[in-house]
Amino acid sequence: MVPLKALGGTSDIFPEESSRWQSIEKTAREILTLYGYQEIRTPLIEEAAVFTSSLGDAAEIVTKQMYLFQDRGGRSVALRPEGTACVVRAFIERGLDKTGGLTRFYYLGPMFRAERPQAGRRRQFHQIGVEVFGSASPYQDAEVILLLTRLLKGWGLEGFQLNLNSIGCKEDRTKILHKIREALSSWQAELCPDCKGRLGNNPLRILDCKEPGCQKVSAGIDLFEMVCESCRRHFDSVAEALKGLHLPFERDPHLVRGLDYYTRTAFEVIHPGLGAQNALGGGGRYDELVERMGGASVPAVGFAIGLERVLMAASGSGPTGEERRQAPQVFVASVSPAQIPEALALAEELRGQGVRAFVNLEERPLKRQLEQASKSVPSGFALILGEDEIAQGVVTVRAMKTGQQEQLNRSELLGKILRK
Ligand code: HAM
Repeated sequence: MVPLKALGGTSDIFPEESSRWQSIEKTAREILTLYGYQEIRTPLIEEAAVFTSSLGDAAEIVTKQMYLFQDRGGRSVALRPEGTACVVRAFIERGLDKTGGLTRFYYLGPMFRAERPQAGRRRQFHQIGVEVFGSASPYQDAEVILLLTRLLKGWGLEGFQLNLNSIGCKEDRTKILHKIREALSSWQAELCPDCKGRLGNNPLRILDCKEPGCQKVSAGIDLFEMVCESCRRHFDSVAEALKGLHLPFERDPHLVRGLDYYTRTAFEVIHPGLGAQNALGGGGRYDELVERMGGASVPAVGFAIGLERVLMAASGSGPTGEERRQAPQVFVASVSPAQIPEALALAEELRGQGVRAFVNLEERPLKRQLEQASKSVPSGFALILGEDEIAQGVVTVRAMKTGQQEQLNRSELLGKILRK
């Protein structure tokens, strides 16, 4: 049989990478807890209506990218392309929209979009996201943006850029769409085929189209000039708060985001090292979504960060503190196979004291075992047990970096390893 392969745009994560993922996740959980967020885990599969009712019929995620199928019961279901709609569905289903107060959730896990795979664009990718329900305050937007940048810095990322815009409230939307159509209708010939269609069903997306023709004709359109006074004040307060927090940002009048549910604040963080798919993460306010999905009227704001892109942007930086802490520390070797049971017992005793230990279980010469040790614990120790060592109650300890050896009794051993 021809060996099977993973589907295009999906990847296996092997141990040399999974330790990085664990490290990113651990740092994120620590930071999110500091800000008062608690984890929510929603199913990877949902009724398709969860997404069609929230992201918008015209959103590309729905029309082109959703993994959509009929299950055996004939229901229309989808693999989740993003987390916000799922969290809102769960929030309403639990009745939290009726309880008042603030709810802060974070989530972490795979999302699925049937896109053409390329660097930084996968069909299964992973997000860490947050959603806060119950606050309409512009300072809540600022705190959420602060948290986004805090996470990126916590992962050691630098050189990213924060872009910010206001796309107006529900009342502004009809007016904005009308104005964009009006401004662009006489330029139809210049628009790319996709944007010709968008003029009818999704004119906002024309503003962030990357085609030069579309960029040229939409260059003069500034969403900020079209939003109402109250949305403008909201934006100004967010901007003031960010300045007070010394968080640099750029106002991008064409930042619209691809999803229908946003109102007022929209933001994105881009990284110059990422190439064409340069968004590390993005989000915004979505004050109408809970009600639109059948709940009470509850304002909300959130973001999601793509973890594959975080890893791409962070590649080249050395091992994280967490990775170093997880590295194995000792390799227990035996001079002859007769000492293997004793070696197994010593490794187990040390693990009980919090030492990460490998142990040789094969019949092979000590030299080969030490070669193995220099690969598995390059900056740790090989602990060598022979007949003599066992008889005297000692262990030969070899520092793999320097090759220096000494004999220690068992009571000194732990102190030596932990001091390292
Ligand atoms: P989004 O901008 O669609 O927003 O996705 C957020 C991030 O996920 C992107 O900036 C990117 O890093 C990553 N991402 C998206 N698609 C792919 C892909 N195909 N391959 C690799 N990475 C990808 C949302 O998903 C919203 N739910 C964010 C949000 C939360 N808004 C409010 N709350």
